[in-house]
This record gives sequence, structure tokens and C-alpha cells, in this order.
Amino acid sequence: MMDAEIIVVPDQEALAHEAARRFTSLVREAVDSRGRASVVLSGGSTPRRLFALLAAEPYCNQIPWEQVHLFWADERCVPPEDDGSNYRMAQEILISQVPIPPDQVHRILGELAPEVAARAYERDLQDFFCGPRPRFDLVLLGLGEDGHTASLFPDSPLLAERERLVAPATASYQGRPAGRITLTLPAINTARQVLFLVAGSAKAGIVESVLRGPGGPFPAQGIRLTAGRLSWLLDAAAAAQLQRQEHGDR
Ligand code: 6PG
Repeated sequence: MMDAEIIVVPDQEALAHEAARRFTSLVREAVDSRGRASVVLSGGSTPRRLFALLAAEPYCNQIPWEQVHLFWADERCVPPEDDGSNYRMAQEILISQVPIPPDQVHRILGELAPEVAARAYERDLQDFFCGPRPRFDLVLLGLGEDGHTASLFPDSPLLAERERLVAPATASYQGRPAGRITLTLPAINTARQVLFLVAGSAKAGIVESVLRGPGGPFPAQGIRLTAGRLSWLLDAAAAAQLQRQEHGDR
């Protein structure tokens, strides 16, 4: 079984609140310890409710937004105003509602040619971290039904990437935009904390496979932190097959 903390909460609302509590606590600790917090947002639909909670009381005023830097785990190769943009979702629900300085929102420039966007984002990361490797305080990740995370998809050559921090990718997943820019495993695995947010019964099978090992390897299993904490925050529906195993009622 993957060496990780697994937290199961009753439903998607509870998942969003637990994620908001952890986000707030981790950001406050990072700012207290290091004067700033670097947080990577995931795309997809799962984090929507979390973003809305962070933009409102009681969480919003507990977060030192002036010291927060936001990044993305991946972006679709679309303009920032496109419906498929991960940035647009976060901008509408969260960023437009909180006092984060605009130059602390490190958008992936999805409107540029993929290789140009990837190089620009990688330079942004290296400038921010003043060195070759990032060390994010918190990385939020989702899990696809095929075991992908960020835009690291099954059988992708990027799964073997050990040098680049950011790379173009292509995806065929639920009709979402195919062109992607993604963080690679080396960019994620140096994080202090990675928090997967997974909800819904459609994810129950892949959650069991990723966490318990049958089948695979899946991209999400490539998340192995060198010096950090890996946590999986699941609602009961997504954890259903895990819990069945633990109670022995196969
Ligand atoms: C993306 C995400 C992707 C997402 C998973 C889960 O750009 O789509 O980064 O990795 O997190 O596909 O998506 P849902 O939360 O919508 O199930």
C-alpha cells in the first residue's frame, strides 16, 4: 500500500471543509516559518467547492493572502478566459474574491505554444525558488478515473522525466481540452505536503487500485515525496472499496 495518510470524510461538503482547514493551517505555518506560502492548485471539478470556501468566512480572513503565491499543477492549452482553463475556474471562484497580489498568481500561459508556455513556467518556478528545484509548501492534486494526476496520464513518456519541471502533454479524458502543460514528478515530489482530493463513487475503483496496488502502475503512484507528507482526502463514496477491504467484506 502507498505510504500515505488516508482521511475519509462523509461527503463532498465535508471534504471541501477538511481541505480548507488543512489549506489554512499549512499556509499559516509556511508564512510563520518562511515568510511566504507556495501553493499549487489542481484543476478539474473537485476543488471548486474548496475554492469557494477559501474565498469566504471563516477561512478567508484566517489566510494571509498577501504572503501567498499560487501556482497550478497543470493547465489546458487554452486562453485564460476559456471555459476549459484551470486558471479561469480559480480566478472566478477564488482569486477575484481575495486580496492576493496579482504578481503572486503564477499562471501557466496556456494561450502560448505549449513548449514556450512550459519553458516560461519552468523559468518562473526557478526564479521563485532561486534554484533548479521547487519545494512547494502545498500541492493539491486530483485523481482521474484512469489514475492520472495533474496532466500525467497513463503510458506517458513524462512519467520517466527526471530533469524537466514542466512539460507539454496531450490527454484524451472526458472530452476535456487535449493540449496540456503539466508539472512533472520531479517538480511535485520535492513538496512539503501533497494533498489529493478525491470524491465520488466513480473514483472508488481507481482509488483502491492506486492505494492498494492491484494493476498499475498508475501516474498517481509516481507521487512519492522525498521529504514531505503525502495525504489522501477521500469522501466515503470514493473510499468505498478501500473500506470494504478493511472490513474484510470483499
Ligand atoms: C485537470 C486536472 C486533472 C484533474 C483530474 C480529476 O486539468 O483536469 O488537473 O488532473 O485533477 O482529472 O478531475 P475531477 O476533479 O474533475 O474529477
